[in-house]
Amino acid sequence: LHVNWDITAAQKNGYPHFMLKEIFEQPEAIRSTILPRITMDNLPDLSVDQIPNRIFEKVNRVIITACGTAMHAGLIGRALIEKLLRIPVVVEIASEFRYQEPIMDENTLVITISQSGETADTLASLRLAKEAGAVTLSIVNVKGSTIARESDYVLYTHAGPEIAVASTKAYTAQLSCLYLLSYHFAYLRRTITKEQCAEYIQELKSVIPAVEQTLQLDKKIDAIGKNLICKEDLFFIGRGLDYALCCEGSIKLKEISYIHSEAYAAGELKHGTLSLITEGVPVVALATQSKVYPKMISNIREVKARGAEVILITNERQEINREIYDYHIALPNTSDILAPFTAAIAMQLLSYYTSVHRGSNVDQPRNLAKAVTVE
Ligand code: G6P
Repeated sequence: LHVNWDITAAQKNGYPHFMLKEIFEQPEAIRSTILPRITMDNLPDLSVDQIPNRIFEKVNRVIITACGTAMHAGLIGRALIEKLLRIPVVVEIASEFRYQEPIMDENTLVITISQSGETADTLASLRLAKEAGAVTLSIVNVKGSTIARESDYVLYTHAGPEIAVASTKAYTAQLSCLYLLSYHFAYLRRTITKEQCAEYIQELKSVIPAVEQTLQLDKKIDAIGKNLICKEDLFFIGRGLDYALCCEGSIKLKEISYIHSEAYAAGELKHGTLSLITEGVPVVALATQSKVYPKMISNIREVKARGAEVILITNERQEINREIYDYHIALPNTSDILAPFTAAIAMQLLSYYTSVHRGSNVDQPRNLAKAVTVE
């Protein structure tokens, strides 16, 4: 018997790369992460994860620490917790955190986020938090990994194995956990009512079909990616949650396409970056947040006036003046707070196709590893 296929090709399940397969697995990853933790009344229930409600009672400060994409998920988590609970949250890059003298005690909740559960700096940060007597809770994908074993509590992402170095489904599964956790925490502390909590959860479930629809933008985003192959520099701009997403969009693009890119809070442009915006420089402008939408539009006009090639990402419902963009990605409508799911996926697809058209090694980019277990 001669077998003329290899195991890797079989594992890719017909997709040309693991990354694309994993991008398309996101509806399932989000579904598996959210649904088992929701009651019939649409309330979050973390007792399935053996996370007792009492650990949230005295928390007066939250620290989120992680590396890379997981840290970017933490930026979204901070916005959620601060908005819903009015408790101060900081997000710390784990390799910085571990060498600082962070302020924490038994009323501090330290959330570590890690796909692999083995990242050396994140693990060291967790150990530091435990020494200080903080309550430690980790959001981890790999079952039984060191970070999962050493944390007081674990909220697993049920994303399944992620093979591509560039993290995709683990990120949206981490977001899923952070939304659940924030709603749960806010409801326990009575900063949102039972009804509000149930509404938030109902909305969170509606992210699954919205993500499915976003994946149908595949061909359109492929065509936009093709136009980026000769570019050397690219900028991502946004405000609020969109800025946190820009950080993720930028890392994704640079790690697999090798195009230099930077994420900028749109309001900071005029404090430096605007000098780099010249004819033909691509700017991905994320404008999903209605509170800052008019401000974003004026930032987009500023870059457009200097010749930027604008790739605008908004919700479908947004009416936009045709003059301000070159390409437009219209995401399925969601509430502002949930836009990170759909926007992240559009940016993943953009990075993926740009990288494919440039002929890069999408799944295993040069110099990078999936899990960084050394300093
Ligand atoms: C590496 C990976 C990234 C990942 C980061 C943190 O740099 O290439 O995709 O975001 O490590 O990994 P972790 O496993 O802790 O989420």
